[in-house]
Amino acid sequence: MKSMKTIVEQIDFRQMNMDIITRAGEILRSGGLVAFPTETVYGLGADALNEQAAKKIYAAKGRPSDNPLIVHIADMEAIVQIAEAVPEKARAVAEAFWPGPLTMIFQKTGEVPMGTTGGLDTVAVRMPDHNTARALIRAGGGYIAAPSANTSGRPSPTAAQHVKEDLDGKIDMILDGGPVEIGVESTILDMTAEPPMILRPGAVTREMLEGLIGEVAVDKSVIDADSHAAPKAPGMKYRHYAPKAELTVVEGSISRAVDEIIRLTGEKIAEGFKVGIIATEETVLRYSRGEVKCIGARGDEEAIASHLYGILREFDSIGTDYIYSEAFGREGIGSAVMNRLLKAAGQRIIDAGGK
Ligand code: TXA
Ligand code: MG
Repeated sequence: MKSMKTIVEQIDFRQMNMDIITRAGEILRSGGLVAFPTETVYGLGADALNEQAAKKIYAAKGRPSDNPLIVHIADMEAIVQIAEAVPEKARAVAEAFWPGPLTMIFQKTGEVPMGTTGGLDTVAVRMPDHNTARALIRAGGGYIAAPSANTSGRPSPTAAQHVKEDLDGKIDMILDGGPVEIGVESTILDMTAEPPMILRPGAVTREMLEGLIGEVAVDKSVIDADSHAAPKAPGMKYRHYAPKAELTVVEGSISRAVDEIIRLTGEKIAEGFKVGIIATEETVLRYSRGEVKCIGARGDEEAIASHLYGILREFDSIGTDYIYSEAFGREGIGSAVMNRLLKAAGQRIIDAGGK
């Protein structure tokens, strides 16, 4: 692809420079690409109703063209133009969780080009909880397709620097709003299924949704990684969120897991490899060899979520060959963390026992 100059603009969501938003909006309206912060991860935006613009996203990311994009909106009224029917349950979910880290899938209208939905007759819709994102969506025409702003297959970007690493020279503009708040992508809830089905876990959990609308199913491929059922969200079938190193998750009692990671690290170092370790505040001092990164306190799943992708990228940038990670709790956003961690590991998990 021809290289272009990527403009980077700092933007503070508390004190937005509207000149910058207006310029970014014009780029989107004329079919260009702008990366922007959301509360989950950085998105790579294009006009969702302009098929040519949406196509540019696939080219810039190197994304398979059958992997549909999420359409981002800034106001609830916008939904009627793109979703054929919005069931009562979906209204209740939107009322409770929008703006926020939740995407819902509906039957699409004719307004949404097949180039945006990867040929599907459904459309994924999300209203992000981020002032800069919503201002940009409005300035760009109201319907912004935005996958995570990473090269396809790399960990999603949680800071503007990550976007730059992957997409500099391939997109028109990056809005740098600092580090994101949550750090893993939105929950995807398929409202065309009955009961509604979670296709990708995120910060809005099954329990939170069931408290509001009753039974919610979870896609088999999310619950049981060994089930060979194809995931219902096309993007979940790719070896996603992957670092360059071979990542292994070690579960079991914490002391057994630490001992096993120390043993494996020693083995690989003796063979001449560079080894990374994902540790926690409680265990970090026990590791004396390898490149050790502390992801947060055990039990603080939110901190762990916000550091995961950044740590995987750091290990890439120092050329790690093997990464060993402790396993984390599945409470709250923990189920999303373990889903992404195991995907990054290609489902490689070792049980160190003791539990
Ligand atoms: O938090 C997020 O959702 C971020 C930010 C930027 O909003 N976006 C994001 O987009 O994660 P992306 O493209 O990286 O992931 C979208 C996922 C993919 O797995 C895709 O296959 C699925 O959503 N998806 C999109 N439209 C769908 C549809 N109509 N049916 C089923 N899955 C769909
Ligand atoms: Mg993505």
